[in-house]
Amino acid sequence: MVYKSNFNIANAKAAIAKSKSSNQRSEFRAADIFLKIYNENPRWAASAPGRVNLIGDHTDYNDGFVLPMALDRRTTIVAGPSGDKKVTLHDLTVGETASFSLGAKVTCGEPPWSNYVRGVIAGFQNLNLPLVGFNAVLHSTVPLGGGLSSSAALEVATATLLEAMIRQKLDPVKKALLCQKAEHDYAGVRCGIMDQFISVMGHKNHLLLLDCRTRETKLVAMSDPSVEVLIVNTNLRHKLTDGEYGKRRAQCEAAASALKVPALRDATMKMLKAATRQIDPLIFRRARHVISENSRTKRAAKSFSSGDWRKVGELMYASHASLRDDYEVSCPELDAVVEIAQAIGVTGGVMGCRMTGGGFGGCAVALVKTAQVEAITRRVTEDYQQRTNIIPTLFVSCAGDGATTIKS
Ligand code: GLA
Repeated sequence: MVYKSNFNIANAKAAIAKSKSSNQRSEFRAADIFLKIYNENPRWAASAPGRVNLIGDHTDYNDGFVLPMALDRRTTIVAGPSGDKKVTLHDLTVGETASFSLGAKVTCGEPPWSNYVRGVIAGFQNLNLPLVGFNAVLHSTVPLGGGLSSSAALEVATATLLEAMIRQKLDPVKKALLCQKAEHDYAGVRCGIMDQFISVMGHKNHLLLLDCRTRETKLVAMSDPSVEVLIVNTNLRHKLTDGEYGKRRAQCEAAASALKVPALRDATMKMLKAATRQIDPLIFRRARHVISENSRTKRAAKSFSSGDWRKVGELMYASHASLRDDYEVSCPELDAVVEIAQAIGVTGGVMGCRMTGGGFGGCAVALVKTAQVEAITRRVTEDYQQRTNIIPTLFVSCAGDGATTIKS
């Protein structure tokens, strides 16, 4: 799918208005197609956002800290009762249909994207919640495979739709964990908790500082109209299922056990340095990333709160270097975006930039001056294309709300 660059967004107000209207168009489109297929209006509708992580990557499965924000791009599902046990899903974004029965425990199946929905339904079945068969139409404005958690958006939108159907709300933490389990068991990705938590708990104009051990959350204001979050999609499809993600998790577990701590969250740089000789150099570097990233994330949350954009920017660049050199989850395309951003610099309006999410492609995130968004977008687009021969996709996002029921 190709998303056009946003050359015309000159200020935050315009960005908000635009995102609202594109999500509304998405809802209308899904409802309209539903009406055309089933000759009636949908009875239920729900939506959930994708996310961009400002800092704190590969820390969530180490019981650490993350600082994501919910995007203003969302996945919407509209649905109505099928009258029997059958579930039929039409995904307008990929143009495919899936169907299965609720007669027994829902299992994995085709097409692959349906597993995110199947996994969440299975989670509700495990809780013995009374589901009925339904027909649904799905549409998403979250770029697919871009590392912006389109899968979490689909899981959380599904869970929110099911809540509307059974007229019962799950506890938000339980809901996020149910969606994470769906991803583990039905998509085969042993992800951490960040993506599902922010999709459930995102808050307009705020980042979410999440302690992935205690699951405590703290909202961090992100509403200064003079700065914007600019997302640069390398358009190199990122994939977490190919084993590298799992390898990193295993390496972190090895580091924690070498340091004799329950998780890398409990390790300090001092402990790591003291163990230099006993630890394999690769495992050492993995641990160094996680320990330093946790500290950067907590510091960044404070700098965001005080509007110290220069400090935030420094921490973002340091985070990227650590993910690139110690954790080795970046790639030449992501590095190119960050180098271009660095070359534009603070005078050109870029405060900081880093890869975001799992890595190996996907997106970079930059904190930029609102007044210079347009010029930055042009320059990054041109330079990136020249360096990689790939056309990137850039867009600004304000911090949106978490999942919502649109119709119940
Ligand atoms: C993916 C996973 C998250 C997190 C990030 C890296 O997005 O789904 O749980 O581990 O990678 O920070």
